[in-house]
Amino acid sequence: MKSKNLFIETFGCQMNDRDSEIMIQLLADSGYIPCADAESSDAIIVNTCTIRAKAEQKAYSLLGSYRRLKRDKPNLIIAVTGCLAQQEGKKMLSRMPHIDLVVGPRGIYDLPALFEKRSASKKGIIATDLADSFTIPPFLPDPGLGLGYKRFVTIMQGCNNFCTYCIVPFTRGREISRQPDHILDEIRHLIKSGVKEITLLGQNVNSYGNDQPADKRTSFPQLLTLAADIEGLERLRFTTSNPKDLSPALISCFDSIDILCPHFHLPMQSGSDKILKKMNRKYDIASYLNKVGALRQVRPDIALTTDIIVGFPGETDNDFAQTMEVMEKVRFNSAFSFMYSGRPPARSCEFTDNVDDDVKKKRLAIFQQRQQEITLECNNDYVGQVMDIMIEGPSKIAGQWAGRSGTNHVVNFVSDHNFLAGDIVKVKIEEGCLNSLRSTLL
Ligand code: 5AD
Ligand code: SF4
Repeated sequence: MKSKNLFIETFGCQMNDRDSEIMIQLLADSGYIPCADAESSDAIIVNTCTIRAKAEQKAYSLLGSYRRLKRDKPNLIIAVTGCLAQQEGKKMLSRMPHIDLVVGPRGIYDLPALFEKRSASKKGIIATDLADSFTIPPFLPDPGLGLGYKRFVTIMQGCNNFCTYCIVPFTRGREISRQPDHILDEIRHLIKSGVKEITLLGQNVNSYGNDQPADKRTSFPQLLTLAADIEGLERLRFTTSNPKDLSPALISCFDSIDILCPHFHLPMQSGSDKILKKMNRKYDIASYLNKVGALRQVRPDIALTTDIIVGFPGETDNDFAQTMEVMEKVRFNSAFSFMYSGRPPARSCEFTDNVDDDVKKKRLAIFQQRQQEITLECNNDYVGQVMDIMIEGPSKIAGQWAGRSGTNHVVNFVSDHNFLAGDIVKVKIEEGCLNSLRSTLL
């Protein structure tokens, strides 16, 4: 088979990163080899995100820039996948007729067939069915792709929560869990290929299995336990969780599973009960703080990170002040923070009490400034501690190595030894910086 070049550009979250890997592997069987630039490619995939307006604009502007390539090379296949493709469907083809395929997150498994269909026909193809009968196919990663030492494994697709600001239930559909034996087979296969760290991925991993009949269900804590028992796995992580579904059983996994890394990403979104209610988050701050307390009791060294939206419709100075207050109470190790962005058809777009952009900007700056101080303080609290870190590779600074702690901090140290990515070494923390920890090798 004559090989062809595939260029793929990925926006958005880790789910999208993983989907891009899956597409690369599926298309390898049709002779496509990943290449580094769009100009020399026979096919281009833009795997898109639509979580905020900015992500959408970026994808459209990139796609616009491919118009010339298609004119010069009419056989070039341009496919748009991911959440924006799902949301836009037909609209995308009429706005950009040089696009060949518009494929939603559930259509990617049919990509090789869609490529063939497209080559044989003149018309653009849209594959954005979100059918509930969909099952995620078993999928074994090919060791030939160079798997490295850490990988993501998707355990479920979709979301049932309908937080009022969020587009995901519309783009990724209702929750569908992968079969536990497919997940465990995939992990075994990865470990055989040299992988040491696995991150289980889903929009809301705590509801893993809830779409299965009660008598056949494997819960998320059970899945974690089964994964952790696989011989050869050294580190286990997961993301993301909705605080409302964070169960005592999951909290106790941080006690019972020693390879479960002490890091929890627990998106809080707002510190105001009024705003949380309007966001349809289904928890209040008191219960959020209780869960944080329970996690810290079980794993005192657990690092907590979060997501915050500022300027949600109706957010007053007082609501924002409550977010700042809760931040002081929890002291997150770090936080991703965003200005609210209306994403139709998400329900918040119907709210009329929008916050002015300049107020949003001011609140974001205040939040980020204080969070940076807290992050730096937290990072300095590690000084003197001994940590096991997994080597990622040489750091950007010559003569230094970079690794990651169980708490998910980037940790640098000086050494002229030649380490392999995935090696675990002991270091002593010397200094906390904003984005990393500086250490010495023990
Ligand atoms: N506007 C701003 N931020 C959003 N997020 C999700 N939807 C929106 C939106 N409409 C943020 C949330 C979520 C993270 C992945 O992105 O904080 O946890
Ligand atoms: Fe990921 Fe959400 Fe963006 Fe889709 S919209 S790519 S699920 S962050």
